[in-house]
Amino acid sequence: CERQDSRTSRERLLVVANRLPVSAVRRGVDSWHLEISVGGLVSALLGVKEFETRWIGWAGVNVPDEIGQRALIKALAEKRCIPVFLDEEIVHQYYNGYCNNILWPLFHYLGLPQEDRLATTRSFQSQFDAYKKANQMFAEVVKEHYVEGDVVWCHDYHLMFLPKCLKERNRKMKVGWFLHTPFPSSEIHRTLPSRSELLRSVLAADLVGFHTYDYARHFVSACTRILGLEGTPEGVEDQGRLTRVAAFPIGIDSDRFIRAFELPQVQDHMKELKERFAGRKVMLGVDRLDMIKGIPQKILAFEKFLEENPNWRDKVVLLQIAVPTRTDVPEYQKLTSQVHEIVGRINGRFGTLTAVPIHHLDRSLDFHALCALYAVTDVALVTSLRDGMNLVSYEFVACQASKKGVLILSEFAGAAQSLGAGAILVNPWNVTEVASSIGYALNMPADEREKRHHHNFVHVTTHTSQEWAATFVSELNDTIVEAQLRTRQ
Ligand code: G6P
Repeated sequence: CERQDSRTSRERLLVVANRLPVSAVRRGVDSWHLEISVGGLVSALLGVKEFETRWIGWAGVNVPDEIGQRALIKALAEKRCIPVFLDEEIVHQYYNGYCNNILWPLFHYLGLPQEDRLATTRSFQSQFDAYKKANQMFAEVVKEHYVEGDVVWCHDYHLMFLPKCLKERNRKMKVGWFLHTPFPSSEIHRTLPSRSELLRSVLAADLVGFHTYDYARHFVSACTRILGLEGTPEGVEDQGRLTRVAAFPIGIDSDRFIRAFELPQVQDHMKELKERFAGRKVMLGVDRLDMIKGIPQKILAFEKFLEENPNWRDKVVLLQIAVPTRTDVPEYQKLTSQVHEIVGRINGRFGTLTAVPIHHLDRSLDFHALCALYAVTDVALVTSLRDGMNLVSYEFVACQASKKGVLILSEFAGAAQSLGAGAILVNPWNVTEVASSIGYALNMPADEREKRHHHNFVHVTTHTSQEWAATFVSELNDTIVEAQLRTRQ
């Protein structure tokens, strides 16, 4: 029934990502409560007007029984979502293991797990097998829902094996793959035991996209050095077949943030925050509690700043929102305790009976509270050790139309390539440099702040998520037409 409905005049776009843009909570044997997340990808795809979008992904819950599965499929269909059911063991080995304990740290230059080489090698193989199996399961669901002519867009490091699985099932499928993380230097990628298999699988796609030109270049170098293939200005060639490789920097739905300030809820939150922190400059960090975000390093830099600038101690506050993530992975659990310990120590050292220098929250904020927080901030600290793009920096800029606060931005975030001229760029590993940048930002004259903000505001409002998605999909279509022309010649 869904298939018939969807074959209207518009072509269909099947978006395949590890996670659906919906979180599902079971309310009974056959009843589910769904909550939509209006995250980056969802708003991006609103811009792809010529396509009807369907989502395929894991619902984030284990549903072992058929009644529950059928009920969830029905509930999700109303949201144009199609679930892939993964059991607990697969989730453990594929998602917690191969995706988040191997690929994620490696792609962010944190290396492979090192505890016990032998044990790692053994579990590495079983995790890679689970990864391939999970990707096959995604491919089966795509195959079941695919109608000739559909465009299939695969997302992220969870699904590097998917383009190959899809093309094996249907050579004519139009397949694009986009990586939301950095793609590391080929010297890093070549340490991965499954390096060649993963590269070859990705190359089965027609178009491969990255956030920055550097990531695309690293990918092409990995294919030439590790697989011995030929890199061309268009991409990678293997026996006459070209896989297009290009950069497509993502953006945000900037209008959604700008319009939020018309809402009374946002104005109320702002009023409260201004009263609460009156007389103090507000510094802000908003990150998932992930080792790539450099939260301990950021807090240590703030400590150094307070240490060296006693006159600022009661005049500045750091609000750090740390959203818990991947809490089943031991590395993430260790990080949480580490951050708590550092925050406690610094608050003990510089706090007074009435105020503390760091407010640390282990949770997310709703959209309205977040917009208000961005708007009252004087200095935002985005100091990731590595980051594919980092859209917090974009959101902050979109919410600063009146205040024109300063963005301190890691040179290792993809966003540094687009917001570098307006932000203060820092090496997040260099605590002394970040501490002195905090001082520079807090003392920056208004005309310099305005100039820097203007540069970034123009970029953020003209390079939106909608434009990103529309460009990728139209490029994918063009790539396929060009390939057809080439084979006919
Ligand atoms: C990064 C990844 C996304 C992922 C998100 C949240 O941004 O690129 O693919 O969905 O982190 O992580 P989680 O593991 O909770 O899905």
